[in-house]
Amino acid sequence: MSIKRELWITAAGVMAVMAAMASIAATDLEQELIDRIKPVGEVCIQGKSDCAAPVAAVASGPRSGEQVYGAACVACHDSGLAGAPKIAVAADWAPRIAQGEETLVSHALSGIRGMPPKGTCMNCSDEEIKLAVEYMVSRSQ
Ligand code: HEC
Repeated sequence: MSIKRELWITAAGVMAVMAAMASIAATDLEQELIDRIKPVGEVCIQGKSDCAAPVAAVASGPRSGEQVYGAACVACHDSGLAGAPKIAVAADWAPRIAQGEETLVSHALSGIRGMPPKGTCMNCSDEEIKLAVEYMVSRSQ
């Protein structure tokens, strides 16, 4: 075997090892990248065995009028802050109730004078605001 040929073989071997190392490094890096950008959650197709047990159903649907009132309206409507009609004070509510429930709800949704839109409860659905108005009215007649 000539020295020249042996050198070539060695060189080829070294190249092959380097290439293999480079590709391992690349896959490690790729995996690292994939891990870093993978979505937080994964879709689970019902009936597939690799799915985790279903999470207990979270109560859905609107919060009650009382809950919404207690969370979002009580700050002003309990004390009459800024001229808000006080809950359970019929005299405060009679002229407002006379406008009809639809008007009250629409004012509660879009705001009127000192009454901010949705009473600032931006995560309240329209339905929840309506329930809160009904709750306030039912306690103030
Ligand atoms: C920052 C204080 C504040 C908060 C919070 C607030 N309100 Fe009011 N609200 C007012 C004031 C002040 C008025 C009186 C406005 C006026 O007629 O000048 C009012 C009036 C109302 C009225 C009567 C509207 C009319 O047409 O006469 C309704 C109904 C009402 N609020 C519902 C709600 C509901 C429901 C919430 C909670 C989701 C809420 N408010 C939260 C201050 C507030």
